[in-house]
Amino acid sequence: MGKNALVTGAAGFIGSHLVDLLIDSGYTVIGIDNLSTGRMENLERAVAGDSFTFVKADITDPDIRSKVPSDIEYIFHLAAISSVKVSIEDPALVHHVNATGTLNVLILARELGVKRVVFSSSAAVYGDPRRLPVTEDTPVHALSPYGASKIAGEQYMHAYREAFGLETVILRYFNVFGPRQAYSAYSGVVSVFINRALANENLIVDGDGLQTRSLIYVSDVVEYTKRAAEVPEANGQVFNVGGNKDIRVVDIADRVLVTVGADCKIRHGPPRVGDVKKSIGSIKRAKSVLGYSPKVSFDKGLQWTIDWYREHM
Ligand SMILES: NC(=O)c1ccc[n+]([C@@H]2O[C@H](COP(=O)([O-])OP(=O)(O)OC[C@H]3O[C@@H](n4cnc5c(N)ncnc54)[C@H](O)[C@@H]3O)[C@@H](O)[C@H]2O)c1
Repeated sequence: MGKNALVTGAAGFIGSHLVDLLIDSGYTVIGIDNLSTGRMENLERAVAGDSFTFVKADITDPDIRSKVPSDIEYIFHLAAISSVKVSIEDPALVHHVNATGTLNVLILARELGVKRVVFSSSAAVYGDPRRLPVTEDTPVHALSPYGASKIAGEQYMHAYREAFGLETVILRYFNVFGPRQAYSAYSGVVSVFINRALANENLIVDGDGLQTRSLIYVSDVVEYTKRAAEVPEANGQVFNVGGNKDIRVVDIADRVLVTVGADCKIRHGPPRVGDVKKSIGSIKRAKSVLGYSPKVSFDKGLQWTIDWYREHM
């Protein structure tokens, strides 16, 4: 018998790659999404097979239990509003989806009697840490309502483990990039730069561009995420999930222009509110407990991502 998993945020960028990996690894997968930013095109491969069921539902729905089957062993909780910018514009909405929604997913997990919940948190919980690279033991300090909502979600994970004995694992993703990442003013830096370069528009770097990002390609992220459910010793732990090295935003812009072969310029705009200056994560713990190191270099991942956008624009 294969394993059964429920993935929230299944139609999103990372969620859809996780769905594909789980199916390839022999899981039967239920994907939940309200399609607010996610797209069914991301799930084309999954829906073509017979190991996947899509449920259009909202994670904040108190009646979500009636929409999913009972025999689920693992929940991968990725659904969220994953934008610092949206959280500055509408903190209450982001709290509702990311904090209350996470509590609702935990209520569901208890009702279903699942074995383990893996929560996709964010490096945004650290704010601007004093010591780099930042380890999982660094105190959290949100710079944006988005960061605060992820800290709240993490605390609910801890509380459910302590109070109800539910197995939980927290993954703090750094900057993830790759195919299927949505492109809008609210998107991640790599997606925005690539799409502007392909459209021959100047790249706008927020502030001086000396802020750094620990970029990790999406296939490495979903491998860590799957292992977080499967490795027994991961229970109760928090893991940074970032790249092997950090890159300055201005250098990301530069690499994108060179790889696309675009003839546009890099311009500087005002610094962004809630923007983290240095995001460098230590991934020692994830490497040792989850037994995996990121395999895809920034340059290779960038080329694959550009190729994908070229095909899908
Ligand atoms: N992309 C990154 O670099 C990054 C970094 C750190 C953390 N994360 C976290 O990883 C997770 C996945 O991020 P992503 O980049 O794939 O974002 P995404 O926006 O592509 O995916 C999120 C998915 O959740 C769905 N969703 C949103 N609200 C929902 C709701 N109320 N009910 C049901 N579905 C809902 C969206 O439609 C979308 O498909 C998020 O929790 C995000 O905060 C992402």
